[in-house]
Amino acid sequence: MTTRRLVLSRSAALVGAASTGLLLPSLAGAQSAKIRVGLMLPYTGTFAQLGVAIENGFRMALAEQGGKLGGREVEFFKVDDESEPSKGVENATKLVQRDKVDVLVGTVHSGVQMGIQKVARESGVLSLIPNAGVHAATRALCAPNVFRTSFSNSQPTRALGKVMADKGHKKAVWITWKYAAGDEAFEGFKEGYTAAGGTIVKELGLPFPNVEFQALLTEIAALKPDAVACFFAGGGAAKFIKDYAAAGLKGKIPLYGSGFLTEGVLDAAGPAADGIITTMHYSDSLDTARNKAFRLAYAKAYKAQPDVYAVQGYDTGLLLVQGANAVKGDLSNKAALYAAMENARIDSPRGAWTMSKSHNPIQDIYVREVANKENKVLGVAAKALSDSGAGCKMG
Ligand code: PHB
Repeated sequence: MTTRRLVLSRSAALVGAASTGLLLPSLAGAQSAKIRVGLMLPYTGTFAQLGVAIENGFRMALAEQGGKLGGREVEFFKVDDESEPSKGVENATKLVQRDKVDVLVGTVHSGVQMGIQKVARESGVLSLIPNAGVHAATRALCAPNVFRTSFSNSQPTRALGKVMADKGHKKAVWITWKYAAGDEAFEGFKEGYTAAGGTIVKELGLPFPNVEFQALLTEIAALKPDAVACFFAGGGAAKFIKDYAAAGLKGKIPLYGSGFLTEGVLDAAGPAADGIITTMHYSDSLDTARNKAFRLAYAKAYKAQPDVYAVQGYDTGLLLVQGANAVKGDLSNKAALYAAMENARIDSPRGAWTMSKSHNPIQDIYVREVANKENKVLGVAAKALSDSGAGCKMG
C-alpha cells in the first residue's frame, strides 16, 4: 500500500514536471538506472561452497543475456549470511533498506530464510529463494513477491522411502542435523517409507552445523538396521560420508539420503561415497542436450563441475530473466512481473519445470547412485512432484 501510494504521488509529480519541460533528464536517468540485485548467501562455514555455486549459476544465466535484465544493466550487492539464523533479519534488512535492492536472491539455510521471509513480506521486495526448502516459505507464510526455484524440504525425501523399501530394507535409522531442513526432510521420508511398509527404528540428530558424528555412528552399529537414511549437506555431508566409511559401516549397512548428501562433495569424499543412493531433483548424468550444454558452459566459465546448487542458481537467473523481459526491465510493474514468473516454464538442466500456485517448483525427482565421483541417474522416483502448499493464501 505504501509503495503504491509512493508510486502514485511520484507519477503525479512527474506530470507536473512534464508540463514545465523539466522532465526529460530525470526520466532518461530512471530508465537507464541499473537493476539492483542483492545476493544473500553463505560465503563462509559449512555451506560456503553452496553459496558460491548458486552465485555462479545465477551469474551464468544473466551472462547469457549479455549481463542484462529486460535490457537494463545489473548491479550486485552481496552479504555473507554465514548460515546464521540469528542474523537473518538484520542481513536481509541491510540489502533492502541500505542497498535498496530491487530483488533479493537468497538463501541456503532454512533458518536464515525465515528472516528473509519476514523482511520480504514486510517490505514487499521481490524475493527469490535459490535453495532453502523451509516449508513455511511456500505454505503458511507464502507471499506474492516470494518465489522458490529449488525444492521444499520434504520434496526430495518423499520418494526415498519407497526406493529403500523396494530394495528390501524393512528397518531404517534416520539421522540428520536438527533444524527445519532436517526435520522437514524427515517428514517426507517418514511418509514415503512407512507407506511402503518400512519401519523407522530410531531417529538420531545433532545440532547444525556440528560434525561430531562418532557417538551416533557407534549407536547405528549397535542398532544394526537394514539401512540408514539421512539429510546432510555441504562440508558436513563430506565428513559424514567419510566418517561412515571409517566407522566400518560402509558395505555393511547401506547409506541413503536426500541427494544433497552427495552434491558438491564427491571430490572431497572420494571412494567412501561410492554406492550411496539418493533422491534429488537433479543428476549430473542426465542424458539431455540441455544438461550437457549447461555442464560444459559452467565448467568452462568456472573451472569447476556444476552441482544441484549451481543448477538452482542458474534457474533463479532464468526465472528472473523471464520476468524482467516480460516487463521490459520495469520491475515496478509488479502485477505483470509476478504473472510472468507464475506462468514461467523453466527450461532447466534438471528438466523443464513450472511453478506451483504457492510458488514452488513442480518437478521430477530422480534416483541416483554415486559411481566414480558422479551422481549417476538410475531412474525417475517421482514425476512432476508438487509440494502441498498447505495453508498458503496469497493476497
Ligand atoms: C536448508 O537449510 O533448507 C538446506 C540447506 C542445505 C541443503 C538443503 C536445504 O542442501
